[in-house]
Amino acid sequence: MVKICCIGAGYVGGPTMAVIAVKCPAIEVVVVDISKPRIDAWNSDKLPIYEPGLDEVVKACRGRNLFFSTDVEKHVAEADIIFVSVNTPTKTRGLGAGKAADLTYWESAARMIADVSKSDKIVVEKSTVPVKTAEAIEKILTHNSKGINYQILSNPEFLAEGTAIEDLFKPDRVLIGGRETPEGRKAVQALKEVYAHWVPEENIITTNLWSAELSKLAANAFLAQRISSVNAMSALCEATGANVSEVSYAIGKDSRIGPKFLNASVGFGGSCFQKDILNLVYICECNGLPEVANYWKQVIKINDYQKSRFVNRVVSSMFNTVSSKKVAVLGFAFKKDTGDTRETPAIDVCKGLLGDKAHVSIYDPEVTEEQIQRDLAMNKFDWDHPMHLQPTSPSAIKQELDYQKIFDNMQKPAFVFDGRNVVDAEKLREIGFIVYSIGKPLDAWLKDMPAIA
Ligand code: UDX
Ligand code: ADP
Repeated sequence: MVKICCIGAGYVGGPTMAVIAVKCPAIEVVVVDISKPRIDAWNSDKLPIYEPGLDEVVKACRGRNLFFSTDVEKHVAEADIIFVSVNTPTKTRGLGAGKAADLTYWESAARMIADVSKSDKIVVEKSTVPVKTAEAIEKILTHNSKGINYQILSNPEFLAEGTAIEDLFKPDRVLIGGRETPEGRKAVQALKEVYAHWVPEENIITTNLWSAELSKLAANAFLAQRISSVNAMSALCEATGANVSEVSYAIGKDSRIGPKFLNASVGFGGSCFQKDILNLVYICECNGLPEVANYWKQVIKINDYQKSRFVNRVVSSMFNTVSSKKVAVLGFAFKKDTGDTRETPAIDVCKGLLGDKAHVSIYDPEVTEEQIQRDLAMNKFDWDHPMHLQPTSPSAIKQELDYQKIFDNMQKPAFVFDGRNVVDAEKLREIGFIVYSIGKPLDAWLKDMPAIA
């Protein structure tokens, strides 16, 4: 029986291992973490993260061939394949602060593997890491090897939160990078066999280590770039009277562009996009490629611009001040169907409004009040450390909002600012609201109150 151990029971490690366990009943999968509350939650009825379909998958195999444990060393020692899925925050101090990935957690995991291993291991990079991390890990392991053979593979995860289970069940592709040596190829084959239980062979791509590591950063950079491109267009749409949804539809019909991931928004969030682009930028700079670095930096600049543009729109439409005005913020997570607030644009929007002394009330059915308080108090880049726990689960009640009632209780003029283009703007206008939708033709009121950048 093949034994798999995954270090790190987070958003990536938890769901990925649960799906491997459910699809491969003959493989024993143990997910380990240094955080006891996290492991306790994985062993309870209230899982530490909310993902549609995750409960069912965990229930189907927990205690059968899926286990969650804090006994990290024991399970690492027993495993044939070790996935490493620990956090890789952006460095907040020292060399590369604000850009480079902090590999502290990775390094300590690698040193622990070297300490406790007594048999050959395949070590799989699952969390996104800078290109050439495998080489560093290989050095730590081989310099402390005691004659044990380690093969390092890069197997980046492409799942998106909110659709993790769906993405894991039917991935567009699985990517496995390894050394181009006989031992390396053997290790790639061993991991390929795991995925082949449910992923068609033609969807399993094998590459060299560096291509796999870079592909993950490149994929996230391309996706984020698409959003910044459409968001840049949304500003121009508002200035010209074009409608960004129509523009997205029209360009998306070009099969070379494609229709997905073209929704204008208040900006992208989540734990990956910004972090990975900053990382990419740092790698470019370190490799003497400042032009390439600046190119990718611009994706983040437009994202920041989009968030402040939104705040400016709110403030300017209310006579350039929101001081003491009551603002209700609906939704706080970085996207729908998740309780994850890492890098959510809502943080910047709320901080912007609070900075202008608004009275802000925030509601998200998936996010606790404590989490929101913590996020608003946190400094940039401090979010990706293990203390950032997410004890969230879906709220049972999904309320429909009665906009007429809301309107009746508001001071006039009453405004709705839609950062996701999800409300029925026409219906709200009929009730009497002034509505701002990103990238859509502006109401007369908003045209008369230009946002000051
Ligand atoms: C992303 C990648 O999609 C995934 O492949 C990778 O493994 C991790 O990073 P995730 O961050 O979970 O996944 O969510 P994603 O659906 O990509 O959304 C990221 C952000 O972009 C969200 O804030 C979302 O609201 C925003 N977005 C997405 C838009 O603003 N417009 C779009 O059209 C799509
Ligand atoms: P991701 O979104 O990449 O899955 P998370 O922050 O959700 O990241 O999860 C990473 C997990 O890794 C955390 O639960 C953290 O406690 C765990 N972790 C970090 N370092 C170690 C380590 N050395 N050993 C075991 N678990 C670790």
